[in-house]
Amino acid sequence: MIASLLLAPIAALADEPPGVPDDNRLEQSRELVKQFGSTLQKELMGAMSAGGPPNAVRICRDRAPAIAAELARHSGAKIGRTSLKTRNPQNAPEPWQRSVLLQFDEVGASAGDERLEFAAHNPEPGVEFRYMQAIVTKPMCLACHGEPAEPIRNVLDDAYPHDAATGYETGDIRGAFHIVWPEEGQDNDR
Ligand code: HEC
Repeated sequence: MIASLLLAPIAALADEPPGVPDDNRLEQSRELVKQFGSTLQKELMGAMSAGGPPNAVRICRDRAPAIAAELARHSGAKIGRTSLKTRNPQNAPEPWQRSVLLQFDEVGASAGDERLEFAAHNPEPGVEFRYMQAIVTKPMCLACHGEPAEPIRNVLDDAYPHDAATGYETGDIRGAFHIVWPEEGQDNDR
């Protein structure tokens, strides 16, 4: 059931009559991802130029979850980042996220934006809408996700003894944003 929903053409969602709440969820999800991604990248670049990558490691560690929590509080959705090879084990994918990540890897980063998105209505009881969007590796990511050199390597080793998030190259799919809208009246705890 879920497998058949994977990478369902987003266009099919857009064909629904306007005003359907789920249409809004798709747009809201894209907007949340945009805000999360751009805020993170801005802070990351600021930290890189201010204190170099070792300082920026802290931004990723502290600010990524804080920004996600802030957006969650405002929107009512749960938002985060995941990957098939995580740096922080707390970002490990849930089974449905893992399936989507595998599909993203299969189609590849060159497939085009519309194929690097996933959306599902009412995938299970209590969940109104699920959304994922692939994150593609950029040159600025390589300092920490390519072959990190000292002193970054050291900082990462200390903070993330189970780090698997290295060896990436520009254009690789690094992971994905995920967004879950709970059914109205459900706790925002998933
Ligand atoms: C200064 C080092 C640094 C840079 C540069 C950096 N990251 Fe990260 N990244 C980290 C750290 C540290 C974590 C772990 C954050 C945490 O504890 O949640 C992380 C985690 C992630 C995650 C969550 C999944 C996981 O592995 O735990 C994704 C996705 C990610 N980074 C993508 C990127 C992308 C894309 C870029 C470039 C735009 C980038 N990162 C640049 C340090 C960095």
